[in-house]
This record gives sequence, structure tokens and C-alpha cells, in this order.
Amino acid sequence: MIDIAVIPVAGRGINLLPLTKSQPKEMLPVANKPVVQYVVEEMIHCRLERILFITGSDKSAIENHFDINEELIWHLRRTGKEDLLQALAFERAKARYFYTRQRHHSGLGHAVLCAESFVQGNCFVTALGDTILGREQSSDIVRQMIDLFEKNSREVSGVIAFDNVPLQEVVHYGVAKPKAAGRIFEIEDIVEKPDIDNAPGTLIVAARYVFSPEIFDFLHRTEPDAYDTVQLTDAIRLMLQSGKKFLGVQIPSGERRYDIGNLESYYKAFLDFASFRQGLL
Ligand code: G1P
Repeated sequence: MIDIAVIPVAGRGINLLPLTKSQPKEMLPVANKPVVQYVVEEMIHCRLERILFITGSDKSAIENHFDINEELIWHLRRTGKEDLLQALAFERAKARYFYTRQRHHSGLGHAVLCAESFVQGNCFVTALGDTILGREQSSDIVRQMIDLFEKNSREVSGVIAFDNVPLQEVVHYGVAKPKAAGRIFEIEDIVEKPDIDNAPGTLIVAARYVFSPEIFDFLHRTEPDAYDTVQLTDAIRLMLQSGKKFLGVQIPSGERRYDIGNLESYYKAFLDFASFRQGLL
């Protein structure tokens, strides 16, 4: 049974400067919660209860956020602030948190590799800590991906979530070439941040993955790219080229995806969530 979620949160957040100069982008507020809290709540909703963050320098605010602050709880209780106590209920969620540091900025593939000794031969989920799925409620796409993976675990090495985007957006993402059309499909090829002219389609990797532990062998073998970073997509591509099988699942068309990767998408996420909470949407 898969119960580990690996959440990489070590990225620099360059496109969100100066907001992210001393604050992790995963801790930016989206209405009343930091981005990464939505991701953690989604993992718990999908019954993943061992959560490993791959952190980096300047990311200790994330560890503090998921700690239990007994002094604060005591203060709120003493002053009768029951509603605010409720806002801290996530601290007591049924999850165990673990942290390890990525000590070099060597890319997403390298970040996932940092989970190897924790994962120890188990299958696991990877959820990128800067992408929120769902708004009205947490997405259960990861639960569907786990079920699909477990049903096909003899044949497949992983399941990846995809979103269909306008062609001009593919340059920011990993992009799949499916073997055949459909909501669930076998992946023929995958390429990281292609030019528009070379994109194999418009299905982009939507920040959620289920992996068998074979991914680690391939991450060890993946050559760094031109920026000396190891791309997770390149390791998956290497697996496909070695005859391993991956399935893709499209997130439902009504389900929202917020990639907090630049100011524009961050503003949109904040406005959407804040308006929704205020009953304006
Ligand atoms: C990463 C992955 C990319 C994926 C994206 C989803 O890119 O490398 O394949 O589509 O996350 O948000 P990054 O956002 O780190 O540039």
C-alpha cells in the first residue's frame, strides 16, 4: 500500500522575486493558507500519511509551519478563540512529517533522488509543493492514480497526472506524447520544456506522479542538462526508452490547477481562493 508522499520544496522561486528572496515560494499565502498546506491537505485527503519534504537552505519556515505550536494553541484556548483554533486543526492531522535537504540546486530529478534512502524500495507519490490542484475541495486525482498504479503494478513503472493547455504554455512544462487519445493513456514519449515547434502535443505534466522505486536507478543514470540540473522528466524518458511503461491520467476538465511559478499565476491563485472564501465566486 502506497503511503509515502515526497514533496520537493527546494526550488529557488526565481520568477517570484523579490517575494521569495527570504521566504520559500511554497509558503506564500493563497487566501488564508500557504501554498504548501494545500498540497499537504491534498495528500492527506488521498490517504498518504508519511510526508517527506525535500527542503533546502532558507526553507525552515515550512518545518515550523507543520510543527505543533503548543504555546499558541494554549493561548488561543485560554482567550476563547475557538475559530482560530480550528484554523490550526491541520497541525493535528493524521500525518507524519519528515524533512531532508537537497544540498545543491541540482534540479527536480536530483531532489527526488534525495528521497531514495527514506523510500527504501517502496512505491511512492511525488507532489510538487508549488502546485495546487482543486479549489472547492482537495483533488483526489492522486488517489485515482494510486488505484490505477496498483491495478497495473506488474506492467507499469509509474502514473503521471496531465493537464491539457494552450500550445503557447507547453514551453514551461514536461510534455507527453500519448500512444493513443483518452483520459487514461500510455505514454509513448515525454520531453521537458520543448519549443512550441517541437512539442509532441499539449498534455503537460501536472505536478503529480506515482513511481515505482525503479525511478532511482534511472535518476542515477540521467545526464544533467545544459544548466547542470538533473531533470525528473529526463529520467522518465530514459525509462520509456528502456521499455518501461508509464500511464498518464488527465485531470478532470473542471478541476483547477494553480502552478505558483510566476507572479501572474500567483496573483490568479490568490484572487481565486480569496474570492471563493469570501463567497464572491
Ligand atoms: C516541473 C517539471 C515539469 C512539470 C512542472 C509542473 O517544472 O520539471 O515537467 O511539468 O514542474 O509544474 P518546474 O516548474 O520546476 O520548472
